[in-house]
Amino acid sequence: MVQIKSAYPARIARGSVFGSGGHLLSTSTLTPDDVDFLCELASDLATGRANAMRSAGHTVALLFFQASTRTRLGFEVATFALGCQAIGMDDMGMSRSNDRTGESLEDCAAVVSRLCDAIVVRHHATGSAARMAAKSRKPVINAGDGWNEHPTQALIDIFAMRRGLRQLRGRSIAFGGDPRGRTVRSLVQLLRHEMPAEIVFCPPPHIPVPDDIVAAASEHQIRLRIIQDIDMALRESDAIMMTPYDMSDIGEAPGTDYRSPRMTPDTHRITADKIERTNSKALLYHPLPRQDEIDPDCDDLPNAMYFEQVRLSKFMRMAVLDRALAND
Ligand code: ASP
Ligand code: CP
Repeated sequence: MVQIKSAYPARIARGSVFGSGGHLLSTSTLTPDDVDFLCELASDLATGRANAMRSAGHTVALLFFQASTRTRLGFEVATFALGCQAIGMDDMGMSRSNDRTGESLEDCAAVVSRLCDAIVVRHHATGSAARMAAKSRKPVINAGDGWNEHPTQALIDIFAMRRGLRQLRGRSIAFGGDPRGRTVRSLVQLLRHEMPAEIVFCPPPHIPVPDDIVAAASEHQIRLRIIQDIDMALRESDAIMMTPYDMSDIGEAPGTDYRSPRMTPDTHRITADKIERTNSKALLYHPLPRQDEIDPDCDDLPNAMYFEQVRLSKFMRMAVLDRALAND
């Protein structure tokens, strides 16, 4: 567990914030206190106010069945920064839990959790992290399960947006891209506790915002708006979380005939020219990778926060791992 130099609420500082199994499967189970604590810990790790080395010696298994750059390398670098070691396979297709040899995810979890202290898993199937958690002896962290959730990305997003905007209460937060994506679901579940004035969606034509996301926002009386082009978000919002309009690399979304557009419609793309024309001060976030929804000519503008978001991700992942290992 990290040695904490600042004062944290005693309730949280003594152990995992992730419940009895220590798993982080969904943001829906995190309380506002949990999120505050993780952001504070991440911030202290970033500034050196918290000393990471008391987590040293643990082993973290990184099981990535689906492509990843940031999450995989981010967890690896966070593991090392905590003085822990990472184990994993470059290609999970070479494990026994591949489509050909078919060892179940449950058995994979039962085995790997006897060789390590925490499991980080990304998989193309919705519910895969929960299935592993049911059989794991050690905490399981969901690093993206199909179209369902990506909780650590959402924690990073909240951490980065709080730093960019100071606070989210009363703000207008917009989403570009496919609203059914796993990063959107995980983030809206956290955003509702931040009490923004409104959440604005700019989805591709004919794609409704999923009912559970509407319900999560409505439950907290947050105004929801759907807009037809991104210019309005650039003019009126404090922050825009862009995500891809084409999510086909995650696989097509279940329960729909809709096929992702291969290119972002011009009306939905953010460019430097649009930012200038709308005199936009909106901060731009993106879990990345981007496709064509944010033009690279935006990268050097003060609006662009997406690479800073990646820098901050290391400290949030350290905080998450530290808490997951805290019960050990
Ligand atoms: N990289 C993120 C994910 O795997 C976002 C995305 O791919 O759109 O969910
Ligand atoms: N943001 C994110 O999850 O990126 P990767 O898919 O590269 O891990």
